[in-house]
Amino acid sequence: MKQRATFNSKLGLIMASVGSAVGLGNIWRFPCEAGEHGGGAFLIVYVFCVMILGMVVMLAEFFLGRASQQDSVGAFKILAPRSMWKILGYNGVIAAFLIFGFYSVVSGWTLEYMYQSITGNLNANSVEEFTENFGSFTSDMFRPILWVLVFTLITHFVVLSGVKKGIERASKIMMPMLFVILIILCIRSLMLPNSLAGLKFFFNPDFSKITSGVVLSALGQAFFSVSVGMGCMITYASYFHKSINMPNTAVSVVTIDTLVAILAGVIIFPAVTSFGISPSQGPTLVFVTLPNIFQQMPFGSLWSFIFFVLLAIAALTSIISLHEVATAYLHEQHRMSRFKAATIVSSGGFVLGVICSLSFGVLSHVKILGLTVFDLLDFVTANLMLPIGGMFICIFVGWRVNKKVLKAELTNNGTLKFRLFSVFVFLVKYVAPIIIALVCIKQLGLF
Ligand code: PHE
Repeated sequence: MKQRATFNSKLGLIMASVGSAVGLGNIWRFPCEAGEHGGGAFLIVYVFCVMILGMVVMLAEFFLGRASQQDSVGAFKILAPRSMWKILGYNGVIAAFLIFGFYSVVSGWTLEYMYQSITGNLNANSVEEFTENFGSFTSDMFRPILWVLVFTLITHFVVLSGVKKGIERASKIMMPMLFVILIILCIRSLMLPNSLAGLKFFFNPDFSKITSGVVLSALGQAFFSVSVGMGCMITYASYFHKSINMPNTAVSVVTIDTLVAILAGVIIFPAVTSFGISPSQGPTLVFVTLPNIFQQMPFGSLWSFIFFVLLAIAALTSIISLHEVATAYLHEQHRMSRFKAATIVSSGGFVLGVICSLSFGVLSHVKILGLTVFDLLDFVTANLMLPIGGMFICIFVGWRVNKKVLKAELTNNGTLKFRLFSVFVFLVKYVAPIIIALVCIKQLGLF
């Protein structure tokens, strides 16, 4: 049998997993959620959720991937042969494909804004004008689609190059770049006048703001942000070497992901308050508010270019992981060559991306359950498929998997100490499924 591809180095696999986790979810969605839900109060709840829930589901997925050495569907076929559990794997592959569709659109926007900044065209006279420009760009027939195509082709190329030469190498180059850019932007933001007010908003918890709705939004964000619930981490862990300490890796990935989200807040909130803008702007925060802020700073185009490069890199390493989930599935379960598998995923993803992009323009009147195609995909995946998938992954690992097998895999056959093993089992068996079930019920209630 052909030996399965593995990541080359420990650093490489951490960078690849962090690359998947750190994305638009951290830099775009997190500050916007925190801004809408009271800043510091949200932050505390979020950190709690991601550190417990995110970590537990991630470790459960790591187990599934490395124990089975399979893609997200194959994992369930190996660990629970001839059972219905493989539906969980299909849920993941479909979710990956659907997220790919709308994620590629927002990723495309980052390229446009990068381009606009470098050509010095990202100017407007007011926030209203920025909003208008953003609206006319996103509703255009061709331009956003062109960027979706560019982004999809880059992703295609990386995935096609394979696990070591493509995914690992790209992540090892891009993630350190991302950290450097983050730090530079943080320093820049903190040096702005009145930056302290932003920090206060972000770090000063007002506990009266913590309602059940805030708790549940924080949970949903935690899930999306660490890429769990849809087999991404199953697929990546199947490329982990048998000597990797998986509990430690899960801790590192979740911690780094959380730090990046916090750094993104440290970049955005001081900048927002410094220019007297409300932090609860919602999703336009990044594409409308920030260009406006950058424009008012010395060397504004440069800062905005750097920022959108950061966003594009974060998006790329995440979308690679989405692509890989579907590609690995086709490659392994349907015995296609990697080339054929990746080509099918890229073409299908592109078509979906086009539809999502057009849902801001000519297809904006097409509504399913009151949502445009873009919003529908975002809602169905992030709010339903990921949480439900994650809950059943916990149930599977907590209730179905033999605890001896679980312990052997997580301790590398007893060569590692995993002192918190029984805590992990308790969390995966009871705590995580119950909390996630509450999230799902709440989301369905909103439906
Ligand atoms: N975690 C990514 C982000 O924060 C999004 C993502 C979700 C990627 C699920 C892969 C799988 O943007």
